[in-house]
Amino acid sequence: MTLSTNHTTSHAVSHAINHWDVVIIGAGASGLMCAATAGYNGKRVLVLDHAPKAAAKIRISGGGKCNFTNLTVTPAHFICQNPHFVKSALSRYPSSAFIELVERHGLEYETRELGKLFCTQRASDLIQILRTECDWAGVEVQTHTQLNTVRALPEEGGFVLDITDTLNATHSVLQTQKVVVASGALSFAKLKASGLGYQLAKQFGLNVLTTSPGLVPLVFEGKWSDRIAALSGVALDVVASCQQAQFAEAMLFTHNGLSGPAMLQISNYWHIGEPVHINLLPGLVALDELKKLKNSGQSLVKWLNQTWPKRFTQAWLEWFPIEHQLSNVPDELLADYAQKLTQWTLYPNDTAGYDKAEVTLGGVDTDEVSSKTFEAKKQPGLYFIGEVLDVTGQLGGYNFQWAWASGVACGLAL
Ligand code: FDA
Repeated sequence: MTLSTNHTTSHAVSHAINHWDVVIIGAGASGLMCAATAGYNGKRVLVLDHAPKAAAKIRISGGGKCNFTNLTVTPAHFICQNPHFVKSALSRYPSSAFIELVERHGLEYETRELGKLFCTQRASDLIQILRTECDWAGVEVQTHTQLNTVRALPEEGGFVLDITDTLNATHSVLQTQKVVVASGALSFAKLKASGLGYQLAKQFGLNVLTTSPGLVPLVFEGKWSDRIAALSGVALDVVASCQQAQFAEAMLFTHNGLSGPAMLQISNYWHIGEPVHINLLPGLVALDELKKLKNSGQSLVKWLNQTWPKRFTQAWLEWFPIEHQLSNVPDELLADYAQKLTQWTLYPNDTAGYDKAEVTLGGVDTDEVSSKTFEAKKQPGLYFIGEVLDVTGQLGGYNFQWAWASGVACGLAL
């Protein structure tokens, strides 16, 4: 069967009931992976999605190249209320397994900094691989499909789903032994993200932890908002830290706040009211450098310009003035200044919200599902995988690796 965006199957007749072994809600990264795995295991699998096309997030991720996994994946790369939850799935389906899959399909990919793997050409090549896998596994994928209700059948087991084909405005009813919720989370509503997974979890009595935007720019108010906006487009390497988290990556000034990998990473750990500390001279002992400048008589501006973009040097010295020749600057003041350079403290006002967030923190409480099968403890036959769960990866391909690993673990258990 073909993974189709136009669905020619079965639902023109509204009152016929289709029977499936598994219905997966969400044709995204985890849903397609789970579907192919279960299909290869001999299950009759239907994947439903309300979007016009499958896997929209893969298509636009990583600037259109999709950072699909990472060479080093450990449980420490994930945020989850139960830090042990991710271990089983990640160890059973490591990044090497996904790399082996894409290599089998001849995907051209490249390794970038910090072990991040990206498609060399287009992220859509990866979608094609998942489509092909689903096709080979006999999976049916139906887009443009709205899920109206899910009802458990307590006596005979399984579920009845009421759906609407939104292209043809036809309505139909499905029966299935098992339902997998792979509908993702709240980030990027313009790509058809929705809170359906949380609603379903609550309907079946599962706890859902508070959600918030993750891997998202941080925004500012007042003078810092204007100062940051004036530097829009400037990027520099920093070490950003917040609470116990610390990331040595690039930071980007935008018209709307601070972004770039360092800030996106920090946003996963930052809470309103907390400071973010930024070391603007990573790898250097700032006080030693300033003392060298003082002793040699070299200009601070010239030295900073060798380290930073000129626009940033100019702005920094306006915000935090100091004599450009350090010869007459007392050591005490020099030490204060070194501290500013390595521990620039900013208080973001907020995050840029779900519309700009790559992921959603929080979600379905992992205590509610098995870490081996992803089945809900309170509702046999109901499964939750991917981002709908309270599992959030750091930046670097970890979120897709979680989607693949949880999808495969669940698919094998169906
Ligand atoms: P995913 O979001 O992939 O799929 C959910 C599916 O469910 C969608 O197809 C959606 O249409 C469907 N759905 C939702 N509500 C529904 C409803 N009510 N009815 C029916 N269907 C419904 N990660 C990474 O590792 N590397 C990267 O490079 C990036 N880059 C990136 C960029 C941007 C802009 C974003 C927004 C996100 C990323 N990510 C990322 C994160 C990554 O995309 C994300 O973690 C995974 O896609 C999650 O996979 P899921 O299968 O859980 O959800």
